[in-house]
Amino acid sequence: MFKINENYLKLPGSYLFSTIAKKQREYKSIHKDANLISLGIGDVTLPLADAVTKAMHKAVDEMSDQSTFKGYAPELGYEFLRKAILENDFKNRGVDLDLDEIFISDGAKSDSGNIGDIFSIDNKIAVCDPVYPVYVDTNAMSGRCGDYLADLERWSNVIYMPCTKETNFAPELPKEEPDIIYLCFPNNPTGATINKDELQKWVDYALKVGACIIYDAAYEAYISEEDVPHSIYECEGAKACAIEIRSFSKNAGFTGTRLGYTIVPKELKKGDVSLRDLWARRHGTKFNGAPYIIQKAGEAVYSKEGKEETKKQVAYYMENARIIREELKSAGYNCSGGINAPYIWLETPNGMTSWEFFDLLLEKANVVGTPGSGFGPSGEGYFRLTAFGSRENTIEALNRIKKI
Ligand code: MLT
Repeated sequence: MFKINENYLKLPGSYLFSTIAKKQREYKSIHKDANLISLGIGDVTLPLADAVTKAMHKAVDEMSDQSTFKGYAPELGYEFLRKAILENDFKNRGVDLDLDEIFISDGAKSDSGNIGDIFSIDNKIAVCDPVYPVYVDTNAMSGRCGDYLADLERWSNVIYMPCTKETNFAPELPKEEPDIIYLCFPNNPTGATINKDELQKWVDYALKVGACIIYDAAYEAYISEEDVPHSIYECEGAKACAIEIRSFSKNAGFTGTRLGYTIVPKELKKGDVSLRDLWARRHGTKFNGAPYIIQKAGEAVYSKEGKEETKKQVAYYMENARIIREELKSAGYNCSGGINAPYIWLETPNGMTSWEFFDLLLEKANVVGTPGSGFGPSGEGYFRLTAFGSRENTIEALNRIKKI
């Protein structure tokens, strides 16, 4: 008789963004005329850049021609894309990698969820609090988080690293030693980031205690300040202790197109065992590659036109971020983020809980955001707004919020 993975039964509720989408649908089914504006999930709204769609069209034509048709993609991804990544995302920043340390995938969400496959269940994870829920939920699914303590809104076997106003929304080195440390900078959800010296402290710490850092750099393109590292490999020794995950979703609008990549350096080892080889084994066994058409589109992001066009998209969203930040501040809200990231993190007014504020915005302003408590216990009393909306919707949403 089959048995189910009972770890799933321990998960509280549904995935955060599914819960929000459900609430949004329910509201809309009752208030049919409501013109809801979503600044909730971090989903892009600008269309793909011209250079990207041109490359896709060309690749579609290649797929329909016998002489250029492609079947399965190479296991690690096409070399043309891995070379473009290496040159533009790493060598340009003084980081050298081998091409076979770059693994192309269908996105950073899948990679950050799947990476746990190569680690023992006995590892203890440390996460920022608040945190992108995928890291915790996927570890809970595999049985690494212990039990969910509903009254405390936390898992019994997870080290939470509070990122609060007092710590500038950055984590401090944990008192209890973790085996795996999840870091995301620029941060989702707070929009905060840390400078290179601070990141170096994490790398030194991981090397000292023998921990592995899973570094999610999905929002790297939004960095506007000089001293903020774009890759963890800018830090000394990081190749021996860190895996880096990247996305094409936020820098080039691939949320619906799906493309990402993960770096697992050969230096990263446990004894004689190379984590790169374990990930290669997993990748080759459980994944058949991102489509050729999409990898061609990804390559075009690094073309001269692609770079110019996607840079403009990022600038567009960051202007939204500026508008949100300044309008909120002028209305008396305390908020942060939005300088190196497309997220604004605001304190809920009058001691409201995150979900109370969610309901208030939904009902009184018809604006959807993301309650901070959905990202972890330290997110309570906070709320996240995304800059990924259209300019028109962003301005309209802020006008409505200011009227509450
Ligand atoms: C978010 O809103 O946090 C992101 O869109 C989620 C994701 O990238 O998967």
